[in-house]
Amino acid sequence: MARTATIHSCGNCAHSEPRWMGQCPGCGAWNTMVEEFATTAASTAPGPGRLRGAGGARPAPVTRLKDVDTTRAPRLRTHINEVDRVLGGGLVPGALVLIGGSPGIGKSTLTGMALGNLAAAGAQVLYVSGEESPQQIRLRHERLLTPTCAALDVPVLAETDLGIVLATIQSERPDVVVIDSVQTLHATELTGAPGSVGQVREVASRIMQVAKPSGTAVILVGHVTKEGSLAGPRVLEHLVDCVLQFEGERERTYRTLRALKNRFGSTNEAGVFEMRSGGLVEVLDASARFVSEATRKPGSVVLAAMEGSRPLLVEVQALVSPSELVPPRRVVNGIDRNRLALVLAVLARHAGVAVGSADVFVNVVGGVRIDEPGADLAIALAVAGAQRNVTLGGGPDGRLPVACFGEIGLTGELRAVAHADRRLEEAAKFGLAPVVCPPGAPSLRAALRSVLKAAAPN
Ligand code: TYD
Ligand code: MG
Repeated sequence: MARTATIHSCGNCAHSEPRWMGQCPGCGAWNTMVEEFATTAASTAPGPGRLRGAGGARPAPVTRLKDVDTTRAPRLRTHINEVDRVLGGGLVPGALVLIGGSPGIGKSTLTGMALGNLAAAGAQVLYVSGEESPQQIRLRHERLLTPTCAALDVPVLAETDLGIVLATIQSERPDVVVIDSVQTLHATELTGAPGSVGQVREVASRIMQVAKPSGTAVILVGHVTKEGSLAGPRVLEHLVDCVLQFEGERERTYRTLRALKNRFGSTNEAGVFEMRSGGLVEVLDASARFVSEATRKPGSVVLAAMEGSRPLLVEVQALVSPSELVPPRRVVNGIDRNRLALVLAVLARHAGVAVGSADVFVNVVGGVRIDEPGADLAIALAVAGAQRNVTLGGGPDGRLPVACFGEIGLTGELRAVAHADRRLEEAAKFGLAPVVCPPGAPSLRAALRSVLKAAAPN
């Protein structure tokens, strides 16, 4: 059989070569050549009597937006509330969803549970695994004991050949198929190794071509390294309808599922899960847990954060310790490192709290990641408490943890952040009032003064 012709083209300047090259001869960039199918000259060449620019294609009818049919097929609910919410109300038939996360975070567990629930509700499902044998999958599914879950009724296919997978999808015509993972399948026509950019792109687009016409929703599982740099999921982001990121630390119990892109819903949603022996369990009362576990020691404060459209109270801890190192360490977990640098600079310049050459560690408890400017004030108060070695008191009589939120400006002012009312409500639910936040505290200095007044020296 004749081999299908492939070329290597540069992702930077689109220059193409018949062979792979480390450096693109077109633009000189390194490692940008990606293997793809050669487009035949005949398909683009203008023929006699054809319009040159359109390459002979026929015009298509156009439709006014108000005439577009908007009757929608009902969404497929996974009956994992957090997943359905993050998806914007369930899976849309025919949608292509990419779920990324580091190895061991629980992607196979989560997708397995979702398929089990869908199967129990009567949907046709298929689980394609290129990583595990059917025996291994069965052992995992035996542990997934949610009441509505038909985890052992899920049909599985352990296969890495893309052609076979596509043929099986075409013959089974499932409502939902999970591909675990997109990096393990390979198209035999391409010479690149499974997981290479060319392969991953080809696998995803061919699966999409097969799934879209039959209305099959596809969930692609993709591994991402800590830096998010592994060839794979990132190159698919523009192609898929929805990108979900499953994050958290493998050793910790809490994991969050976040939508980074969603054509059918908001990207502000996030779900919190806990890994237990019977699979992933939704954490509905995350705030209650974090507040009750807050330590009430120097360097601890509670941040009234937003996880998507939901308020969430989390504990932020800081430790300031003398160091011999030059430059001193700035170690963060769950917040942005640059944000800490900014907060330390403003603390020193505008609030009289200088950490100097000490090491500073800041940690959001429970493996939660906070990516919003509202966390600034919590970082600042935690560091100030740690540096002064005082316990910051909150609540009506100063016996509860301090709750706070607010963005810190470069001139030392506190700036308002979104959903202040919902954050305040959530804090009030746990008795953490008054909350230190703008506009009550207009500046970082004012905020510090108010909490240090109620502080207990250690
Ligand atoms: P897994 O879903 O295989 O992760 P991924 O597909 O993202 O690589 O599972 C991750 C870890 O979770 C695994 O080390 C074992 C653990 N686990 C539990 O603690 N409880 C369970 O019920 C299951 C199924 C897994
Ligand atoms: Mg897995």
